[in-house]
Amino acid sequence: MTFDAREFREALGAFATGVTVITTREGETDELIGMTASSFNSVSIDPPLILWSVTKDAYSSTVFETAAFFNVHILTSSQIHLSNKFAEAGGDKFSSVEYTLDENGIPKIANVAVRLDCRQWAVYDGGDHSIIVGEVMSLARTKADGLVFSNGSYASAYPLPTPSDNKAASKASNENQATRFSPLEDLLLYNLSRSYRQLSVPFHAAVRTSGLSIPEWRVLASLHGKATHTLEKLASQTFIEQFALVDTLAALRDNGLCEFTQEGKQPEWLVTGTQSGHERVQHLFDLGAAMEKEALAGAGEESVVELTQLLRQITDNTKPVA
Ligand SMILES: Cc1cc2nc3c(=O)[nH]c(=O)nc-3n(C[C@H](O)[C@H](O)[C@H](O)COP(=O)(O)O)c2cc1C
Repeated sequence: MTFDAREFREALGAFATGVTVITTREGETDELIGMTASSFNSVSIDPPLILWSVTKDAYSSTVFETAAFFNVHILTSSQIHLSNKFAEAGGDKFSSVEYTLDENGIPKIANVAVRLDCRQWAVYDGGDHSIIVGEVMSLARTKADGLVFSNGSYASAYPLPTPSDNKAASKASNENQATRFSPLEDLLLYNLSRSYRQLSVPFHAAVRTSGLSIPEWRVLASLHGKATHTLEKLASQTFIEQFALVDTLAALRDNGLCEFTQEGKQPEWLVTGTQSGHERVQHLFDLGAAMEKEALAGAGEESVVELTQLLRQITDNTKPVA
């Protein structure tokens, strides 16, 4: 072999996958079992078969190898917390999770992208893993975006333009050039609004798909990296009026995504982002960066720095608005 285990694992990490949580029940003790697995894949359409592999070292490996039924849950891009929870070794993973039991007593986790209810079809030896093949008996699905796992990090899938999209865009831009007569197109304000719109509409759609409202995203983005802000600073950074902000903050705090504190005898409340809040929007930061890169493709690094400086200059030379 010309590679070691670490190199092999890292090389395989380049193959982006979805993330699933697979659940079952221990036959004798009735213990509910669940684990995160990205080894899930499709096998056959007729009969409908899927597979995944479980490491023989896992606490739950024997249960899965012998379980007659199991449910596969394909996670959405806003369920990193579930992936992390079910990647813990052993222990009660269900106490903080919304689920019901199906007719076989197997947990069905709520609000996932897709759920596949399976009957065990076969188990094969796969070196240090067991390969479990399941026959899908029923399924439930939503339109939510699936969570992606790539090179050891969570991500969300963002469709890339195909060569035909690029051709259509360049044709439209040439036609625009030819028929261009409006002085509007030379107005900075028009170009700012148009570029903002074209970037923000798909981005905001991704935010909503991830289960967050735009105000919630703005607050969590401001608190990213577990930052602490006064209400006034948060209101200014998120463009949300203070009284409306309090409702958004209360909902986020109830979900463990931010905390309120009061320093010493200061009357002012401070808001701090939590680790869960940070993780909840990490994929949106990554998506924003990818969209920005694509939108500025072809522009040199210096022009991008200059553009950012010019935008800051506009902010400095104009009055803040509530
Ligand atoms: C994104 C992700 C994907 C994973 N995929 C698998 C997998 O396909 N098979 C596997 O055996 N373990 C996988 N794991 C690790 C298990 O989830 C982990 O070993 C867990 O502790 C098993 O649960 P148990 O010890 O309670 O049985 C994955 C972990 C993560 C975070």
